[in-house]
Amino acid sequence: MSLRRLQVTDFRCLQSAQLELDPQFTLISGPNATGKTSLLEAIYVLGRGRSFRTRRLEHLIRVGRQRFVVLGEIAMPERRVGLGVEGSATGIRAKLGGDKAPLAELASVLPVQIIDPEVHRLIEEGPGRRRRFLDWGVFHVEPGFVAYWQKYQLALKQRNAALKAKQPRAITSAWDEDLVRYGEQLTAARSHYIALLVDQARTLAKNLLGMELTLAYRPGWGRDMSLSEALQQSWEHDLESGATQVGPQRAELSIRLDGVAVKDRISRGQQKLLAAALLMAQVKLFPRDAPVQPSLLLDDPAAELDNERLAELMSEISSHAVQLIVTTLHGEFAALGTPGRRFSVGEGGVQSA
Ligand SMILES: Nc1ncnc2c1ncn2[C@@H]1O[C@H](COP(=O)(O)OP(=O)(O)O)[C@@H](O)[C@H]1O
Ligand SMILES: [Mg+2]
Repeated sequence: MSLRRLQVTDFRCLQSAQLELDPQFTLISGPNATGKTSLLEAIYVLGRGRSFRTRRLEHLIRVGRQRFVVLGEIAMPERRVGLGVEGSATGIRAKLGGDKAPLAELASVLPVQIIDPEVHRLIEEGPGRRRRFLDWGVFHVEPGFVAYWQKYQLALKQRNAALKAKQPRAITSAWDEDLVRYGEQLTAARSHYIALLVDQARTLAKNLLGMELTLAYRPGWGRDMSLSEALQQSWEHDLESGATQVGPQRAELSIRLDGVAVKDRISRGQQKLLAAALLMAQVKLFPRDAPVQPSLLLDDPAAELDNERLAELMSEISSHAVQLIVTTLHGEFAALGTPGRRFSVGEGGVQSA
């Protein structure tokens, strides 16, 4: 159902912290630079195998230490499952139920989503961030997705290695069949998901921004041809650049408000609202009958959203089972109800409040 116990060691500024989380709503408060965001980051890393703040693992390890460890316990309908991540100079490793597990499996027991002060980057930055956003969502509504996503990545990696080594076309093209098969499955799954997503996000965007939202999927190659044809056409270009130039790794989620592409056209404040609407729609789309429910992390929402808008966002998911974990400098959030558990973060670390 949800993350109930969290134990963090040598993660960012947190030397050691233990928290029993509420299944509905946990509030974490404290002054600036005490480790509130780091706590949310630790939960995020536990569910995603990566941070939302940095790509560099060493930044997550407490200065002067060799590794960080984050352990969690998920309460499922009939059992509890332990999971953990450990990061060191040699990389990040995951454990699930006591056994080593691929990072991708963490998400199946701890689906975690964050809305933080950097949320506008989903709109503002390049297409890679939007592809990851999409894929997290597809993963949770379409169970077969991981398998063909991984097969696609593998074929792409091999093909790119062959291109880089300037192998003859016959060798490089040996990967095309897999690329096309899994690439088309990936494309179909993402397109289908976007249709579901826009249904959910449209009303939110209308209420928050007063504009009409449209989403479209650009698959990463020309509209008027198949992926197989696109690969044929792109051959010279691929060889020259040493990498495959067409396919789902080049896909883009195109976002429009009132018919106009949003990137660079709307204010930072509007970007934040739009990104929050998209993330919220994604939480809403999470299957209700799933054995685990998503944990939604809100990092200092008061800094970004007035109470009215926060209430608007929250009303969208109020009928869904979502675990809220929220940080704040001070104050409560009427829109979020009463926290089942509170923690304060300060000089002495994390304390139950
Ligand atoms: N790897 C690290 N080791 C030790 N301290 C760190 C590390 N990374 C960041 N910090 C420190 O952690 C502190 C808390 O950061 P943060 O979680 O963002 O606080 P908050 O959200 O409460 O403002 C900052 O002062 C930062 O300098
Ligand atoms: Mg913070």
